[in-house]
This record gives sequence, C-alpha cells and structure tokens, in this order.
Amino acid sequence: MDIGREIDRLKKERAAVILAHNYTAPEIQDIADFVGDSLELSRKAAACRAPVIVFCGVKFMAETAKILSPEAVVLHPNPNSGCPMADMADSAAVAAYRKAHPDTVIVAYVNTTAATKTHVDICCTSGNAEKVIASIPKEKRILFLPDANLGRNLAKKLNRPMELWPGFCPTHNRILPEWIAAARAAHPGATVLVHPECLPATVALADRALSTGGMLKFVRESAETEFVIGTETGILYRMKKENPEKKFYPLEPEPICPNMKKITLEDVLFALQDLSPRIELDPETIALARIPIDRMLEVRP
Ligand code: 13P
Ligand code: SF4
Repeated sequence: MDIGREIDRLKKERAAVILAHNYTAPEIQDIADFVGDSLELSRKAAACRAPVIVFCGVKFMAETAKILSPEAVVLHPNPNSGCPMADMADSAAVAAYRKAHPDTVIVAYVNTTAATKTHVDICCTSGNAEKVIASIPKEKRILFLPDANLGRNLAKKLNRPMELWPGFCPTHNRILPEWIAAARAAHPGATVLVHPECLPATVALADRALSTGGMLKFVRESAETEFVIGTETGILYRMKKENPEKKFYPLEPEPICPNMKKITLEDVLFALQDLSPRIELDPETIALARIPIDRMLEVRP
C-alpha cells in the first residue's frame, strides 16, 4: 500500500485538514495541508471550517486547535507527543498563584496545557510575545510562564521586568553558547539565527532570535545566502525546500525535539482510519482557555 496515497484518499473522504508544525519529520510536512509555527497554526485552526483536523505537533498545539475549533474532531495522531515545558506549569500551581496575586497579569506562552490556560490572562507565542507584552499597561506586574529563558530574553529586549516561572525547553535549554561559537568558526560569514527559548547567553551570540515562522520569513527575504540555524533541526527541511539556492547549517550536536518526531505517517493513517485518538476537552475548559487565546489573537500582528 502507498501510505501517502491512502492518507490523501482518506483525507478527502473525511474532508480533513492536516496541520503540521515546522519541527515535524519531512514526510509529515510533505503530506500536510499547512506547515507553520505555533501562532500560524493557531490562526489556521481558528479559521478552519473542516469537520476533521489532524494535528501533527505536540499535545498543547492540538489542544489549542480544539479550543479554537471546538465543533471539529481534532485528531492528535500520537498522544504520547507532549511538550515537557508545557507540563512544567502545573494548572493547580498556576491557580494557586492566581489566587495569591490577583493583580498580576499572567502571560502564558502558548506552550501550556489547556487546563493551565484557564487560569491566565493572555497567551503569546514566540512570534508575537513582544507585541503581547507591549499591550500590557506599564504599571502592571507581569508573571511570564512557563519558559524562563524566553521570559528573560523578552524582559531584556523590552526593558520590562517580569516575574519568571522556572520552566524551560529541554531541547533549546541545552544549546550552549559554545555551540554558536563553534558554528561561527566552521561557517564564517553565515548569519546565525536562534530560537528565543535558548539561554540568554546563547541568544547574545546570535544575530537574531526568532520564532520558527520568523526564521523562515527572515531567510526567505534576506539577501544573505548562508545561515546557521539554532533550533530544532526539523525546520531545515522546509528552509532548504523553499530556498534551494541558499545554504543552511544545523548546530552540532543537532538539537532534536523527540516529541515532535514521535508522529509517523502510520500514526496519521490510523488516525484518519479510526477518527482517533481525539483531543477531548470539557466545554468549561474550552470556554475558559479560549479567553487568553482570543486576547492574544486580537493583538495586532
Ligand atoms: P514556534 O512558535 O516558534 O514554532 O515554537 C514552538 C516551539 O515549541 C519551539 O520549541
Ligand atoms: Fe516543547 Fe521544546 Fe519540543 Fe518546542 S522543542 S515542543 S518547547 S520540548
């Protein structure tokens, strides 16, 4: 059986749309209707009228799609594909913080569970975090969760003090400044892009810190022809495909998010055959978690 052809046939039969994150495996990106970063995928999910969404990304992303398209059946082909950083902001702990600090604005990176989103004021992604924080009145105290690296990088860039939750991305937190120095030595003249989930000392050595969507736009529009890419290496597939005349180098050792790589073509096929595994959220969670996501989407892009 040609698995790609069968996925295509079932996708049409189910009137399904396949959304995939920039870090997923090449064969997943190839069968997707849309590949993007967290913000772009949220916008797609919100605008999506399809009765079935197959979400190829980690669990919080599929939950966000369900929150934004509650009428749709949202399939998460491998339920074991989670985001360890999202699990670092436990919903009970965030609820307790909310109770103790009613006047603090809680800004939640979209990398949080649906349950945690029910206790926060506004969400952001790495693609819109600067604009989201700038939309909060200066006199307000902010708690940023769960990524302390992203929070610290934003606080420095925007000159805005923020309280930080002690979370981190195991993949990006491991990208050491030495790796950037080594990449610069190996590829002198290349522009170095990193993700803002990296350590501040790592970001300090890069030319730009951008979301995955921001990186793709930057390399497309840049007159430069060589780039060192300081994020999960799944993104290099799309970069090379869209810019065949440019050169892209991963860091050494290559940063991999094992959870993004858990989703296989077989998982997608079985999900379309069985209409399972589904993201199931109770109506109250959907209604409450939608508030901070809608606030984020209302912030001018
Ligand atoms: P982006 O929003 O930049 O795609 O990042 C999502 C993510 O999980 C990065 O680790
Ligand atoms: Fe989560 Fe990090 Fe993987 Fe992104 S790369 S999904 S933040 S573990």
